[in-house]
This record gives sequence, structure tokens and C-alpha cells, in this order.
Amino acid sequence: MTHNRDALIAAAKSAKAKAYAPYSNFHVGAALGFADGAVVTGANTENASYGLTLCAETNAIAKAMSDGRRGGLEAVAVVGGMHGEPGPTVTPCGRCRQVLNELAQLGDTDPVIWCDGEDGVLELKLSALLPHAFGPANLG
Ligand code: THU
Repeated sequence: MTHNRDALIAAAKSAKAKAYAPYSNFHVGAALGFADGAVVTGANTENASYGLTLCAETNAIAKAMSDGRRGGLEAVAVVGGMHGEPGPTVTPCGRCRQVLNELAQLGDTDPVIWCDGEDGVLELKLSALLPHAFGPANLG
């Protein structure tokens, strides 16, 4: 199925409202669009031990995989900003690119990543964000 860009970004914005980010005040929401039409969201979850922070994208992937999903990842939307306000475009951090790749490679997809920001939407494929990725295919 083809996910609608604006609808997935809207889901990421709704998720952003649930961010727990009292230390950075940087609120991020992510939405994953699946082949069966499902949308799974996540928000960043910080910790008083700062380094234990979990990003929005990683939380969304963990939700999906702990729900049994092992593929079908077609599209990802990410939106973030200080105090939840619009700001410069946010692309997934390096760790999140690797975490996204796990589910993408399991299902043999190369999801489109829509990064929303005050200057518009940046559209990238995961393979452009994480070229020559190491993943489950290397270990199978
Ligand atoms: N963050 C995300 O949730 N996703 C990203 O792609 C970039 C960074 C979060 C982590 C932390 O809670 C805050 O943004 C500032 O780094």
C-alpha cells in the first residue's frame, strides 16, 4: 500500500505531543507506515540518566517489533523541534538509522523517510541515509 505523506506526518506530529523530553526540551515524533496500512508511532523518552534516552524512531520500531512485526516497513515520518515548535528539519540520528534498517531489511524494503521541518519536507530513502548497511542479511 502507498502511504500518504501528509497523513503520516500528521501522525508523527500527534506522537510528538507525547514526547517526554524535560532535559533537552526537544520534542520528536515518529510514525511508521506498514504494507498492511498500519501506522505505529513513537515519541522520544528521556531519562534523568541522560545517556539512556530513547529516540522517537527507536521507540516506534520497538513498539512495532514487540507487537510481532517483522517486515512491511514502507514509510517513516519524523518531526521534531524545541518545545515541540517547528524548526530545522530533523533526520533520524545514526543509531535510529541502524534500528530502522533492522526492520526494513527483515522485510526486504527500503522505506521512504519523510523529515518534516519549517522549510518543508525532506524526502529520502533509508538506503541513502544508511548506505551499505550492515543488517540481519549479513548474519543469515
Ligand atoms: N531525538 C529523537 O528522538 N530522534 C532523532 O532523530 C534525533 C534526536 C531526541 C533524543 C533527545 O531526546 C532529543 O531528541 C535531543 O537530542
